[in-house]
Amino acid sequence: MMDIKKVVLAYSGGLDTSVIVKWLQDKYGCEVITYTADLGQNEDLEPIKEKALKVGATKAYIEDVREEFLKDYVMKAFKFGALYEGKYPLATALGRPLITKKMIEIAKKENADAIAHGSTGKGNDQVRFDVSAVALKPDIKVLAPVREWELKSRDEEIEYAKKHNIPVPVTKEKPYSIDRNIWGLSIEAGPLEDPFFEPPEDIYSLTVSPKEAPDEPEYITIDFEEGMPVAINSQRMGLVELVEKANEIAGRHGVGRIDMIENRLVGIKSREIYEAPAAVLLLEAKRSLDELILDRESLHLKDQLAQKYAELVYYGYWFSETREALDAFADVLNKRATGTVKVKLYKGTATAVARKSDYALYSKQLATYDPTDTFNHKYGEAFCYIWGLPLKVLGQIRK
Ligand code: ARG
Repeated sequence: MMDIKKVVLAYSGGLDTSVIVKWLQDKYGCEVITYTADLGQNEDLEPIKEKALKVGATKAYIEDVREEFLKDYVMKAFKFGALYEGKYPLATALGRPLITKKMIEIAKKENADAIAHGSTGKGNDQVRFDVSAVALKPDIKVLAPVREWELKSRDEEIEYAKKHNIPVPVTKEKPYSIDRNIWGLSIEAGPLEDPFFEPPEDIYSLTVSPKEAPDEPEYITIDFEEGMPVAINSQRMGLVELVEKANEIAGRHGVGRIDMIENRLVGIKSREIYEAPAAVLLLEAKRSLDELILDRESLHLKDQLAQKYAELVYYGYWFSETREALDAFADVLNKRATGTVKVKLYKGTATAVARKSDYALYSKQLATYDPTDTFNHKYGEAFCYIWGLPLKVLGQIRK
C-alpha cells in the first residue's frame, strides 16, 4: 500500500466526502485537510468547515473563488462560445481544474503527498481532477476512494457513517446527482437514466417552467467589452453580480433548460439535464455580436475551434498548451467584440433581436437593395465566372 501522510481532500460537506475523511484516516493512517470552494453553489461554507473538522479533518480551508472562476475559466470558454456537443455550457467541467489548482497550492504549502476527491470511476470529473493534478504537480498522488472502497451501496455508506459518528442526512436524498455552480447546474442519475423519461418539473431550481413564465416578453440589453459582458440594461457591474443577475432574469423566463444524451470521455453515453440560464442568455447575445463584427473566415474557424475547445475542457485538458494556444486565438478575435445586444426573453427562449457595435463589419451601403447601394453589380458576373470555373471544367469532362 502507498505510504501517505497527509492528504488534501475536495470536500463538499455531503455524505460521500464526509465518509471519505474517515476512510482515508482508517486506510492510510494519514492526516486529512479539506478544501471547499465557493463556486456559487449557493451554500454556506462556514457550516461545511465546521462539519469537516467535526468528522476528523485537522484543517478545513474554505474560499470564495467565484470571481476567479468566472474570469479565468468561464470567460475563456465564453470567448469561444464553447458548448460540448453543441449544447452543454461546461459549468461542472470548468470548475474542476480551478478546484484542483487550489488543492495543489494547499498541498504544496502543507507538504501533503496526495490530494483526494469524491468522484466515481465512471465519470468525467475523476479525469479532470486526476489529470489537472499531475499537470500541475507531476509527483502528486491522487486518491479517489469511491473508485476503490468496499462500500458498495448508499446503505453500506450510511452504516459506515453511523459507526463512525458521521452525521447522516435525515431528509430522504433526492434520487439525483447534482453539481451546481454560478455558471450552471448539472443533474443526472435516478429516473433520468431512462432517456425516454421526461424530467419532472421539480428537478429544476433555477428556471420556472416556460408555461409559468410571464405572458409578456422582456427585453434586456447586454453590453460587451472585448468579448466580456460588462453591463445589463446599461448598468455596469462586476462579473459575479452580472452572472447572478443574468441567471435571475433568464431563469424567471424559463430560459436555460438543457436535456441531452452526452458522450462521456470514458465511453459511456449518459443522460444529463442542465440548467444554465445566464450561460444560455449571454452566449446567445455574444453570438449575435460576433456575427456582426467578425469576418466570415474568422467566424467559421472560431466555430470549428470552439468545438475543439469544448472537448479539451470536457476531457480534463485544461492545463494543456493546446488550450493556451486556443485562448490566444480567441483573444485576437475578441479585441473588437465591444458592443450592445438586445435580447428578447419569452417563454423559455432568449433571442437576440438587435445588435450594434462601433466595430461592426456590417455595411448597410453594401447590403442594401435601396438606391443608396454602393456595390458594383457588374463585378458579380466576373466573380461567378471565376468561382464557377473549376466546376465548369469538371462538368465538361463528366458529360
Ligand atoms: N456530465 C457533466 C460533466 O461531465 C456533469 C457532471 C456532473 N457531476 C455530478 N456530480 N453530478 O461535466
